[in-house]
Amino acid sequence: MQDADVLITVGSGGVGKTTVAATLALRAAMEGQGSMVCTIDPARRLANALGLEALGNKEAKIPDEAFAKAGLLPRASMHAMMLDMKRSWDDLVERRAPPDKREKILSNRFYQALSTALAGSQEYIAMEKMWELHEQGRYPLLVVDTPPTAHALDFLDAPNRILDFLDNDAAKWLLTPALAAGKFGLKLFNLGGSYVAKTISRFTGTETLQQLADFMLNITSLTESFRERAHQVRGLLQSPSTAFVLVTAPMPERLDEAVYFHTLLLQNKMRVAAVVVNRVHAPVPDALWGEVARLSGPLHAKLEQTLKENDRLAAQDAKGIERLRELCAPTPLVLVPRFELDVHDLKAVWETSRYLWGDATVEGVAPVR
Ligand SMILES: Nc1ncnc2c1ncn2[C@@H]1O[C@H](COP(=O)(O)OP(=O)(O)OP(=O)(O)O)[C@@H](O)[C@H]1O
Ligand SMILES: [Mg+2]
Repeated sequence: MQDADVLITVGSGGVGKTTVAATLALRAAMEGQGSMVCTIDPARRLANALGLEALGNKEAKIPDEAFAKAGLLPRASMHAMMLDMKRSWDDLVERRAPPDKREKILSNRFYQALSTALAGSQEYIAMEKMWELHEQGRYPLLVVDTPPTAHALDFLDAPNRILDFLDNDAAKWLLTPALAAGKFGLKLFNLGGSYVAKTISRFTGTETLQQLADFMLNITSLTESFRERAHQVRGLLQSPSTAFVLVTAPMPERLDEAVYFHTLLLQNKMRVAAVVVNRVHAPVPDALWGEVARLSGPLHAKLEQTLKENDRLAAQDAKGIERLRELCAPTPLVLVPRFELDVHDLKAVWETSRYLWGDATVEGVAPVR
């Protein structure tokens, strides 16, 4: 991780991508490498701790007081931002659409609906922002968080999927001259049950058809620039100074997804710096078993049951971790325990980083670096 200038956290929903992204950026700043973390939908309390609550799409420097409150003194600055989908799309159109098309696109009802609902849109915007921040070159380390993807491919394919949508000849044929003339009803759209279809089906009437036709005519003025950017983004993702940090939970159902994602990243010639196994259950320490054994009555029975359940989960996690290690070799595995509380402030983020950097290990589980 140390030699990368772009780190991207990936993984399935809710596993800890945003938490790990904040952790990587904080650790870098503490060690003297200025950093920027671009988060997506951070948990509210983490956003507050990073001072992001009122910021929308803007980059913000984490204030010294926030670090002081957590007892931290970073050697370089840390910046953070929260990606706002709608504003990012608007910025993109403003920057890249020809001047005479800008207003037409921005004020179009389809654009307004699609910019938030288009499948892959969130993934695309994350990639777009990454590219922009990287080009500006203001941060020695850029950490990019990704949205929860139902399928691993969504994220890697985002730029291409936007292109596919814009390039779809059948859609264009249907949407432009015929629609402009208002000849066809919406039933003609053969877009299946996709997001796009659902969004479109919310609109009816001729005015709608006109709007849709305008949208297609104007948005295609962006196609070339999307194409170029998709190519550049892929180049950045495959660059030797970019690395992925794959986050997963140790439960069996998550592991298969992680292994699949790992394989996919490697197949796409992308570098995986580490697999972070998050929320690992540590086995109950002997001393605690001893304490519980000294109790009696219903409390004893209840606590014993809780500890047994914990140990059952710990054993299951250990098995999963072993499997993951085999299947992802030689990518290093890093274990982070399940904390009692959410990782909601800088102090907890720092505590998490100690596991990522090996200053602390999950007790009772063999380190598997
Ligand atoms: N090791 C941990 N122990 C306890 N709580 C954790 C741990 N890691 C993350 N959490 C908490 O779990 C919740 C989900 O984490 P996070 O938001 O980082 O996941 P995510 O993968 O970004 O989710 P999404 O896919 O929805 O974006 C947060 O409230 C976070 O504080
Ligand atoms: Mg997240």
